[in-house]
Amino acid sequence: MTEPLLEIRNLSGGYPPVQVFRNVNLSLFEGESIGLFGPNGHGKTSLMKTLAGLIDPWDGDILFGGKRLNLSGKMKTRLSQHLNYDIFRRRRIDPAAVVREGLIYVMQGNLLFPEMTVNEVLAIAPAAAGERTGVQEMQKQIHTLFPRLKERQNSKIRFLSGGERQMVSIAAGLLAMPRLLILDEPTLGLSPKMRLELGAAIRAIRETGLPLLIIDQNVEFLCSLIDRLYLFDHGTITRELDSDHMPDHDQIMSLMFESHA
Ligand SMILES: Nc1ncnc2c1ncn2[C@@H]1O[C@H](COP(=O)(O)OP(=O)(O)OP(=O)(O)O)[C@@H](O)[C@H]1O
Ligand SMILES: [Mg+2]
Repeated sequence: MTEPLLEIRNLSGGYPPVQVFRNVNLSLFEGESIGLFGPNGHGKTSLMKTLAGLIDPWDGDILFGGKRLNLSGKMKTRLSQHLNYDIFRRRRIDPAAVVREGLIYVMQGNLLFPEMTVNEVLAIAPAAAGERTGVQEMQKQIHTLFPRLKERQNSKIRFLSGGERQMVSIAAGLLAMPRLLILDEPTLGLSPKMRLELGAAIRAIRETGLPLLIIDQNVEFLCSLIDRLYLFDHGTITRELDSDHMPDHDQIMSLMFESHA
């Protein structure tokens, strides 16, 4: 069997001294789209921020394209008299190195510069592509995927709707020419109509074969975009379901409930 593109082994982390997730194991193969579903506040975003290098893992491995992204060893072995020597030396995981490898995380909540225009944001996004090629082709595809962004190209971000901001965020992620694109709650707070529009765009991205890791609170919507689903509860993966066993809303509720029994 081929190696996974992303492999997470026994990953633990959080915001010291509070642990948020523990012993997370997850893998994603080339061409695959996977989903992560779980209740609010149980640590999905914290796990993704750790993959992106924004917070340091405490223990475990993050392997991407066969390379380890984080320093090995438990974090506490590197602590001495409450001094974390990683701060003075180097981080346990470096966000710039993660982007260089092509693991691109589109954060929850559309963190964009409000005073920049759509075109200005899309013009700086390719800087994250580094050595990866294909930016020009991607720039052409952006307006096909998101026709609204063409209409709104000279608008400042702060005048856009939530759905339009999400489109800019995803477009910026695509212009980084990802090898894996992570979308954290792309449809949060959107109208059903906007959810459909965004869903169609994500499906089109998936059809290009780009590996995706998607988090969404609407399980039926999420399952329409993925090949495999991981259930995440109280900071750990509780179950993995393949495409033949995608749950509907009622099934997911009983599965999540079961894991507490
Ligand atoms: N910067 C932070 N410092 C301290 N604690 C934090 C920080 N960010 C999040 N937390 C806490 O970590 C826990 C997990 O939050 P996280 O945002 O990862 O959950 P989530 O599963 O993504 O939730 P949601 O579905 O609402 O997005 C929560 O208890 C949250 O309050
Ligand atoms: Mg979250």
